[in-house]
Amino acid sequence: MSSTVEAVVSLVGGAKRIVVFTGAGISAESGIPTFRDPLTGIWARQDPEKLETANAFREDAALVWGWYLWRRAQVAQAVPNAAHQAIAQLTWTRDVTVITQNIDDLHERAGAVDVIHLHGSLEQPKCFACHRTPTAFSFEEPIASEDMRIEPPRCPRCRGKLRPGVVWFGEELPAVAWKKAVLATKNCDVLLSIGTSGVVFPAAEIPTMALRAGAYVVHINPVQVVQPSCRELCLVGRATEIVPALVFLMRPSTGAQVERPVP
Ligand code: OAD
Repeated sequence: MSSTVEAVVSLVGGAKRIVVFTGAGISAESGIPTFRDPLTGIWARQDPEKLETANAFREDAALVWGWYLWRRAQVAQAVPNAAHQAIAQLTWTRDVTVITQNIDDLHERAGAVDVIHLHGSLEQPKCFACHRTPTAFSFEEPIASEDMRIEPPRCPRCRGKLRPGVVWFGEELPAVAWKKAVLATKNCDVLLSIGTSGVVFPAAEIPTMALRAGAYVVHINPVQVVQPSCRELCLVGRATEIVPALVFLMRPSTGAQVERPVP
């Protein structure tokens, strides 16, 4: 075991409160592309201005709605990977807050509870006009093609167009989610930052906020995203090789199986 792995196992093992902060990299091995990978990333093929802004929706709502339906279909076909599962397992036995920038539901499907979504969710559309989230909404059948134009359904309250319930460029983060995330971050002893390039603000402030509050921060990423220092460590590698190994090394010495709690 490397000395960094040993240090991280001991830090996480001894922590009272843990925050797990995730980005697109954690879902990459479930087959959901990241944003900024130069070859496979979403922005290698698409222009965010045409799909991820309120202006884009104003100009061509059918294109934007169809694109998000396609992304939702991609997520529906994906399954949580070993990293999502290991994090979920950690939430069952320890004081762990999961904060994600992802709009997929793979943390929840792995069994993690109370996941904070900083950038919204593919599952909860809202009205472009009155901003309400419809209480009962069911999506059309998943579609196969990335550029299929589909007219968005209408808001049951005001008849405005429904839009994806995600945060677009230039928009504020959901206030309640951000408040909860800041509180958890300022109160944690260790923050694991997994699979994020850390370039989209304000979400990218989270690891720095934890450091300033006196916590240790561990970055898990195939790329060394920061220069390590005494309270900031890097485990360089894929989420599915590192996160399950960490959780395994922290297992109770009795070797007992950890079971998913009954809700
Ligand atoms: P990015 O695409 O910017 O970064 C993905 C990160 O995941 C990179 O640092 C990769 O090195 C890393 N990565 C790739 N494969 C990995 C693996 N198998 N295991 C671990 N890490 C891996 O995605 P985000 O940082 O999530 O915003 O992007 C932040 C925000 O930018 C997104 O939430 C989205 C986008 O615009 C909104 O939708 C508002």
